Amino acid sequence: MKDKPTKILAIETSCDETSIAIVKGEGNLKNPRVIIIKNEILSQIQIHKEYGGVVPFLASREHERNLIPVLYRALELNYANSKLQNPNYKKITKSKIQKINGLFERYPNLLKEFKEKILPLEKPDFDLLAVTHKPGLEPALWVGINFAKALHILWDIPLLGVDHIEGHICANLLMQAGAKLKIKNQKLKIIEFPALALTISGGHTQLVLIKKWLNYKLLGETLDDATGEAFDKTARLLNLSYPGGPEIQKIAKMGNPNAFNFPRPLINSKDYNFSFSGLKTSILYTVQKMTKTELKKNIANLAASFQRAVVEVLVKKTIRAAKEYEVKQVLLAGGVSANKALRNELTIALKKEGLELSMPELILCTDNAAMIGAAAYLHFKNDETSNWKTLKAVSKN
Ligand code: KG4
Ligand code: ZN
Repeated sequence: MKDKPTKILAIETSCDETSIAIVKGEGNLKNPRVIIIKNEILSQIQIHKEYGGVVPFLASREHERNLIPVLYRALELNYANSKLQNPNYKKITKSKIQKINGLFERYPNLLKEFKEKILPLEKPDFDLLAVTHKPGLEPALWVGINFAKALHILWDIPLLGVDHIEGHICANLLMQAGAKLKIKNQKLKIIEFPALALTISGGHTQLVLIKKWLNYKLLGETLDDATGEAFDKTARLLNLSYPGGPEIQKIAKMGNPNAFNFPRPLINSKDYNFSFSGLKTSILYTVQKMTKTELKKNIANLAASFQRAVVEVLVKKTIRAAKEYEVKQVLLAGGVSANKALRNELTIALKKEGLELSMPELILCTDNAAMIGAAAYLHFKNDETSNWKTLKAVSKN
């Protein structure tokens, strides 16, 4: 008999995106599929832009402000809609209220809004509440975790803490609702194992061997800057705004990728580790030697040459790992996987090896809660849930 789908409400607040998604998980751990019903993302980029990067305390303050409006959007609720009133809401026990008060001790505004806008809601029919609990900015993570815990207490729905990086990898499982028939190659969503994931975000650069879902082996990672961090820092050197990745991609299109011969750190090392700080320093020295006019004239060439160096390292090491471990498929994951040059180059290089690249659609590459719901589905299928009393934010993996 076919299992009933699992309906998950997922929350992501690890960095500068407040996101809440509703996803539906189907299938077993051999062939899971996760369908997006809603994926609301409220970006704080405009707020952090003027500081040139994410400011943790501002991020948590914004999450505190945004969580309930974003949840309302995900649930398609309107505060003025009185039909949403839960007739039993006056009967919510004192013990529940006390626990919720405790969880929001540090967030008096969120507590007030929770009492006003969440307590009166009728209990929704979710099977699971998922929340990112690591890695990320600790104050930002805590807002989401406490919010999820409060919903768990109020609604008596199981709770599960999710690893953000695993979430990025699981973005490869996601399908848009109603997209089933539009996807030409259904196989795209069926991941073949062993698979290799290249996970590249603002905080991570990892090559991960996946023998099957939930069975991950770290083959190598960055020894210093993460790939996204290298993009962001290089963008700053070129006077481009935050986040640097999309800016560099845009301007690189107009430049010559062979104009500057920047180093390709560790490209031939026998391990699967990465290092990007030397590349950044090399760009710094190049920029320091230029006059303002020269820099202006060369920005596109610098961006294109930097991007080419990063892409070359990532592609070469990924191909080598794919061959050594005889993987059947490669998955791209994390914010930098939105990079078009990388998507193209890696697709071409893998094709030569007879391999297929799975990559999330662009909106699912950067932080979003649907991917957290996808990872949660796998763990829930494995009978895992978290205890609200012990679930905590962990900044580093
Ligand atoms: O996964 P993500 O949204 O957040 C973290 O978990 O860190 O990744 C954000 C990173 C930023 O460093 C951003 O500059 C980079 O991903 N990024 C890109 C592109 N879009 C986002 N890097 C290169 N090319 C892009 N198109
Ligand atoms: Zn991320």
